[in-house]
Amino acid sequence: MTLLSVAEAGELVSLLGRNGAGKTTTLRAIAGAAEPQVIGGSIRFDGDELLGTPPYEIAGRGISFVPEDRRCFPRLSVVENVRLAINHAEDPKDLETVLDFFPELSEMREKHARNMSGGEQQMLAIARALAANPRLMLLDEPFEGLAPYIVRRIEDIIAEINEEQDIAVLLVEQNVAAALAVAGRHYVLDEGRIAESASTERLREDEEMRQRYLGV
Ligand SMILES: Nc1ncnc2c1ncn2[C@@H]1O[C@H](COP(=O)(O)OP(=O)(O)OP(=O)(O)O)[C@@H](O)[C@H]1O
Ligand SMILES: [Mg+2]
Repeated sequence: MTLLSVAEAGELVSLLGRNGAGKTTTLRAIAGAAEPQVIGGSIRFDGDELLGTPPYEIAGRGISFVPEDRRCFPRLSVVENVRLAINHAEDPKDLETVLDFFPELSEMREKHARNMSGGEQQMLAIARALAANPRLMLLDEPFEGLAPYIVRRIEDIIAEINEEQDIAVLLVEQNVAAALAVAGRHYVLDEGRIAESASTERLREDEEMRQRYLGV
């Protein structure tokens, strides 16, 4: 049974669910970092099965994962953080191409990640994922804990990555408004399983569904 599919390269899909619904576990299973059987069924990207693929093959398939904790190296600078991602990738973008995409980061090339704001660190985490030159980017709650104006900036960055670079995005969120603003299609996760699949229009209009699964 296909639970979730990101059909075309370049699609932007959200995976919504309240606290503890199993969003991170699902992403970790896709990234090969958790047991696939916790999810069951099938998760497909561009026709390929993602569940059960070992982590080293995930990168080869062009999938980058931006985890919940943003995982930048705190004692390394912006440039050093991006360089490390480049060094670990099979077919990376070059440093200047990545930094050109993030004017804010270009202006703080030597700043250490630990001295950066949450929003700047989130940009750096996305920059690191972009450096790997992915076809699909997995983002785990990128807006969490960020001020509204940074949320809007990161929404724009994600939309640009999707539209201008033709990279598919699977965005995990509890922030329904942000997911509605950027994603075209949505899956709703409840107790570890996909309970609903909805267009942006339906998610916006179906208050009963939003209340039941998302509490908003
Ligand atoms: N399919 C599943 N079967 C059994 N347990 C699961 C499943 N998915 C998640 N869990 C368990 O549920 C708990 C919450 O999962 P997870 O952290 O993935 O949720 P989340 O939606 O990312 O939560 P948060 O909103 O806090 O980030 C974890 O203890 C996890 O092991
Ligand atoms: Mg989570």
